Amino acid sequence: MNAMAAQGAAPVYEDRVVTQFALAAVLWGVVGMAVGVLIAAQLTWPELNFGIPWLSYGRLRPLHTNAVIFAFGGCALMATSFHVVQRTCQVRLFAPALAHFTFWGWQAVIVLAAVTLPLGMTSGKEYAELEWPIDILITLVWVAYAVVFFGTIGIRKVRHIYVANWFFGAFILTVALLHLVNSAALPVSLTKSYSAYAGVQDAMVQWWYGHNAVGFFLTAGFLGMMYYYIPKQAERPVYSYRLSIVHFWALIFTYMWAGPHHLHYTALPDWAQSVGMVFSLVLLAPSWGGMINGIMTLSGAWHKLRDDPILKFLIVSLSFYGMSTFEGPMMSIKTVNALSHYTDWTVGHVHSGALGWVGFISMGSLYYLIPRMFGRKEMYSVRAIELHFWIATIGVVLYIAAMWIAGVMQGLMWRAINPDGTLVYSFVESVKATFPFYVVRLLGGLLYLSGMLLMAWNVVMTVKAGRRALVPVPTALARA
Ligand code: HEM
Ligand code: HEM
Repeated sequence: MNAMAAQGAAPVYEDRVVTQFALAAVLWGVVGMAVGVLIAAQLTWPELNFGIPWLSYGRLRPLHTNAVIFAFGGCALMATSFHVVQRTCQVRLFAPALAHFTFWGWQAVIVLAAVTLPLGMTSGKEYAELEWPIDILITLVWVAYAVVFFGTIGIRKVRHIYVANWFFGAFILTVALLHLVNSAALPVSLTKSYSAYAGVQDAMVQWWYGHNAVGFFLTAGFLGMMYYYIPKQAERPVYSYRLSIVHFWALIFTYMWAGPHHLHYTALPDWAQSVGMVFSLVLLAPSWGGMINGIMTLSGAWHKLRDDPILKFLIVSLSFYGMSTFEGPMMSIKTVNALSHYTDWTVGHVHSGALGWVGFISMGSLYYLIPRMFGRKEMYSVRAIELHFWIATIGVVLYIAAMWIAGVMQGLMWRAINPDGTLVYSFVESVKATFPFYVVRLLGGLLYLSGMLLMAWNVVMTVKAGRRALVPVPTALARA
């Protein structure tokens, strides 16, 4: 049955691909975070590079960022967007074969990244390191993804397009645009190319891409998750639907202009830096509007937070979102950036968004989604979800607190000047002073990874138990 059956019966959804992406997200989450822990250890004890080129920090760092953002985050986004768009449009996915191509094509991209990055093949552009043949594959996969997603919206049985789909749609369209523009390059061999842009234009295009990767890959799609899974799990309607529409347009308009805050005090014209700063400050408003809309969805149902660990993940993710979107605008103020730039403060900011917001909202959504894909209402162990939540929360707090203190300390040490104009501290003194904070960060990372491993175990047990209870999937659950 490829559409809703007659007499209002529930449509049969194309959920195999949703399940595949969801399970892949968990797997790549473990891998990407394990590499994160390894590089955190290498920064603490450089001997852990082992003198082997493909295990060196410089090669593993982009492997970490690609694995957590595009493999873990990407698979979570694709799983949830395909799950949500079918339920909110009340139809089966458009062109299921293309959806399966999206899955296998995306896994091929991930595997190619995992091979080429440790071998040192890179375009040298942060978050866009993959070389041109892989970029072409990404383009093909992304077009397939867009056709399936927008095709499903096109054949929807519900007139209204639910706001979560607006966010997923903006994520898909904008990432396509960013990828095409920023990856334009001149190949000189199969594994090497040079950017089509030069000098400061290259830097500007790169950070227009980089910041919008934050805004659309690491934010807009995850807001799509927020608008579907929080109301579902809390069994409450979205706090203000009107606010969600204002939130959408204000956020996507503002993000586009904030990129230059990554290039303060560089060769970029000063006015462009100021434009970036002003738009970053404005960005606080839509970001917090969205956060408030998500959190307030719980009004009247706050008690559910006490014993529902999935809601804890979803709501605490919004607190981290609020924190990082307050911190970001502050860091974009030029005088603040003069202190924070190049320091671990930036790394702390990144991970309060990445671990606290992106990680938690994905985990909460996957904990909702995965059991339902196997005909169950709940994960195998709800207590394990609760434990995961607390381990991960302590992990994030240790990670970001250590990096904030280390970052501010580094910034202050680097700018301390004697009356005769010489530096008070040599660079290596600041590295030595950072050591204890790197140990604490490593501990935080280990905790966060342990939580992810617990999740992986819980998912395996759910799949095993689910299969037994699977046939036939109760209609009510299939509709969930
Ligand atoms: C166990 C969890 C994790 C650990 C231990 C970890 C550790 C690290 C380390 C050590 C770095 C390099 C910092 C530096 O260059 O000084 C890094 C960078 C980065 N990580 Fe993670 N990470 C984890 C999870 C994640 C997740 C889940 C995401 C995204 C969803 C993420 C996104 C990033 C990004 C974007 C950077 C680059 C930051 C920058 O350029 O300032 N990480 N991570
Ligand atoms: C209102 C929202 C936000 C603003 C205005 C903002 C602003 C900033 C600023 C000023 C920097 C430092 C740039 C530098 O000194 O080089 C930065 C870095 C970064 N932020 Fe944000 N931020 C926001 C939200 C977020 C969120 C929610 C995330 C993650 C989910 C995030 C991820 C990052 C990453 C990955 C970097 C490091 C980029 C790099 O150098 O590799 N930001 N952000």
